[in-house]
Amino acid sequence: MATTTLSKIETIREDFPELKRQFHGKPVVFLDSGASSLKPLPVIRALTDFYSYHYANVHRGIYQLSEEATDLYEGARTRTAKFIGAPSERGLIFTRGTTESLNLLAYSLGDTLGPGDEVVGTIMEHHSNQVPWQLLGKRRRTVLKHVGVTDEGVLEMGDYDKLVTDRTKIVTVTHVSNVLGTINPIKEISKIAHDHGAVCIVDGAQSTPHMPVDVKALGCDFFAFSGHKMCGPTGIGGLWGREELLEKMEPFLGGGDMIREVHLQESQWNELPYKFEAGTPNIAGAIGLGAAVDYLNHVGMEWVARHDEELIAYGMKRLHEQKGVRLLGPTDPKKHAGMLSFWLDYAHPHDIAQLMDSEAVCVRAGHHCAMPVNERFGVPATTRASVYLYNTEADLDAMVRAIDKVRRLFVR
Ligand SMILES: Cc1ncc(COP(=O)(O)O)c(C=O)c1O
Repeated sequence: MATTTLSKIETIREDFPELKRQFHGKPVVFLDSGASSLKPLPVIRALTDFYSYHYANVHRGIYQLSEEATDLYEGARTRTAKFIGAPSERGLIFTRGTTESLNLLAYSLGDTLGPGDEVVGTIMEHHSNQVPWQLLGKRRRTVLKHVGVTDEGVLEMGDYDKLVTDRTKIVTVTHVSNVLGTINPIKEISKIAHDHGAVCIVDGAQSTPHMPVDVKALGCDFFAFSGHKMCGPTGIGGLWGREELLEKMEPFLGGGDMIREVHLQESQWNELPYKFEAGTPNIAGAIGLGAAVDYLNHVGMEWVARHDEELIAYGMKRLHEQKGVRLLGPTDPKKHAGMLSFWLDYAHPHDIAQLMDSEAVCVRAGHHCAMPVNERFGVPATTRASVYLYNTEADLDAMVRAIDKVRRLFVR
């Protein structure tokens, strides 16, 4: 990290080379970290360094390079497990990301369910925490139920009392909604699940990058997250699970590394976490994720969360000053993390995003892979600005200037 007399945010921005780019003669304003974050130099260097000097396959070679690669890979696991407060690294499985983690659960845990067993989700889930449970329903004839969302964009907590019963085996919920920005009360939801003998699964794709996460304090049984949303590379993420539950589950994929012994008709599985890591893993990705974790620890997750909250409060204020803006999600910035999704009365989100692009402002337009929650709010799509540790109030000002431009063009 740069060591000059720059302010903390200036120092952070120096670490992200992409922020130095210009489009149409204007400096880039990146407000799409909810989709994927930019990468800091220490992560880029960790990847280059690994591929340049330490590359070999892991867990297999009895030679120095393979031992180095294994140490780097397993070191990344230990630090990532600690980052989310996992009691040990045995429960942390490297996956391709949140989607794969949730699909792993829908298969390996889901296949222990039978006809009539129930899964309780919510209508604010990303499709990756919706579709795997629908597929499970087709395979095992399980029943999928959904907790609703209030006009304010928070979960209808009373629905849990009605929907979670002794037939419920799984309660699954996102920690932070990727459309509404709502921070959900995971501790409370985990307790409701446990009171009925169900397990609680948390989609942490949008919380892990933005706030300190402690899976022990959350009280959940499984926690899924993606590296690319938290300064790490694409194609890597994690699933943390309680060891006693992971021990009972069958593997998701079969192949190398996940076995202890293979015979022609049957096999025995490797110990945790390898039982769930079939095939050559994304070694470089995991090492990059480890570097991202180090980077975020260095910046400080408390600082990231506070910075986020200040930007969201500022963005809300600026958006409320505009005419014809409908902002989705909780109005209290303390209950609202990372993103501002809005609807403009006079223009479609795709037109808005395109016009913003001409101002070098990168935002996302669409249903953000969460169609049911868009339906709930009666909008086909929204424009979503998502902030991260490298954003400033000036970025949000640039977005508001671009909205002004949209209004001048569309409202006559
Ligand atoms: C809340 C939430 N869950 C799951 C996902 C899926 O993550 P990935 O595509 O990294 O698997 C996303 C991605 O946007 C998300 O925002």
